[in-house]
Amino acid sequence: MNGEMTAVPLRTRRLDLEPLRVEHADEMGPLLDDPVLHTYTGGEPATPAQLRERYRRMTAERSPDGRQTWLNWILRRRADEAAVGTVQATVERDGDDLVAEIAWVVARPHQRQGYAREAGQAMTAWLREQGVVVVRAHVHPGHAASQAVAQAVGLRRTSTVQDGEVRWEAGHLAIDIGDVRAAAGRLRGVAHRTPVATSTTLDDRTGGRIFVKCENLQRTGSFKVRGAYNALARFTSGQRSAGVVAYSSGNHGQAVALAARLLGIPAVIVMPSDARPIKMAATRGYGADIVIYDRYTEDREAIGAALAAERGLTLVPPFDHPHVMAGQGTAALELLEQVREIDGGGLDVLVVPLGGGGLLSGCATVVADELPGCRIIGVEPAAGNDVQQSLRQGEIVHIDVPRTIADGAQTRHAGVFTFPVLQALVDDVVTVTDDQLVDAMRFVAERMKLVVEPTGALGIAAALNGAVAVRGWRVGVVASGGNVDVDRLADLFGPR
Ligand SMILES: Cc1ncc(COP(=O)(O)O)c(C=O)c1O
Repeated sequence: MNGEMTAVPLRTRRLDLEPLRVEHADEMGPLLDDPVLHTYTGGEPATPAQLRERYRRMTAERSPDGRQTWLNWILRRRADEAAVGTVQATVERDGDDLVAEIAWVVARPHQRQGYAREAGQAMTAWLREQGVVVVRAHVHPGHAASQAVAQAVGLRRTSTVQDGEVRWEAGHLAIDIGDVRAAAGRLRGVAHRTPVATSTTLDDRTGGRIFVKCENLQRTGSFKVRGAYNALARFTSGQRSAGVVAYSSGNHGQAVALAARLLGIPAVIVMPSDARPIKMAATRGYGADIVIYDRYTEDREAIGAALAAERGLTLVPPFDHPHVMAGQGTAALELLEQVREIDGGGLDVLVVPLGGGGLLSGCATVVADELPGCRIIGVEPAAGNDVQQSLRQGEIVHIDVPRTIADGAQTRHAGVFTFPVLQALVDDVVTVTDDQLVDAMRFVAERMKLVVEPTGALGIAAALNGAVAVRGWRVGVVASGGNVDVDRLADLFGPR
């Protein structure tokens, strides 16, 4: 993945992709008065009048004669359900790079998901008939459904916002939705389908409708068992008999230990000497051998690799592995299903704790496929915002071990598998402070009777403190873990 973000000069000529009759773009007017569109602009709040103006300007720039390719084709089919815009795309036909207009769709909430995908698929089919491959597009970042269409024509987001646009390109990511669905099949009857909690107090305090996915109530006390079991279940018989090694600040270790016991695989877990006693005891309780290291002076990856080499063990890393990432994504698969069961609706935003990005990349893969209009936001501790920096710089940034109470998010850098997925599919990464984490933990303990560990509270803290805009939105928040012992809780909560 390269971090280069400027547009590539092309041998260009204009490709006429217009499949049907073209009428004037002013037809868009009434649709832009739809308040729904206001919501869709997400990061860029605007009144309907401002939106209409913005659209007109874009239309004039991109299509000086006011004619729109694709636009009327889609409008004629579903004019009552959707608003449409166009982006400039680079496409390839007969070995030539060509510039084309490509449309995106903004549909009403109950239809937007299916409709954007349907339009994208129809476009892909038509493009294929024309012998056209879309290789690159510049997409307006405020338009959620534009992402769905760019994705449906086979592109992945490869840049952060630049000059008001985001670049999408053809390419492959480590996992896709099929991997997550397959993981869900393996996890059936193994991982809990954890509950989704709601709270009027939480909704009142944030102004949003919040659905908390309680992975603190997952087996081993965190979502980590999803990825660990999915990875171990895919071992060959040789790998199973030799055993597994994992390094972990705690939750992944516990998860690998349990998965190994369930599958009859011997396990060695490399844990930091300052890991919470509750996590160490549980890991031992699952029958794993523990090897201790100092997280500030020793390199756990090197220790894990050395053990793997010496003893023929298979290393299962905590986040940077496609099988782990796919397993973690099953939490989002369930959440979307459960939210539909609760009231038939979807989500506008999904907020996910973020360390190395295993959980976030899996969840983003699900959201991108199932609910492309939904924004997906990662939350890091303020002291350890390496992924936020990485996304801004377009490459993986390494930091020193961050000092934060969010011990599951003390990662120094994103992974080579996770980062491209985060780059392609995640809308934003925000941060919260340790004090905000403690407040969030206290809030869910008192108001929702939930014990959530500091890392597990990253998403809730972001929603409570406005780090993520949630007012008026339907918001999924993953409470990713609950492994915190009572002494530590007493310490953190203390007398006010
Ligand atoms: C409770 C909890 N939440 C979130 C994370 C971060 O997960 P990832 O490294 O997949 O981003 C961890 C990692 O250990 C964790 O233990």
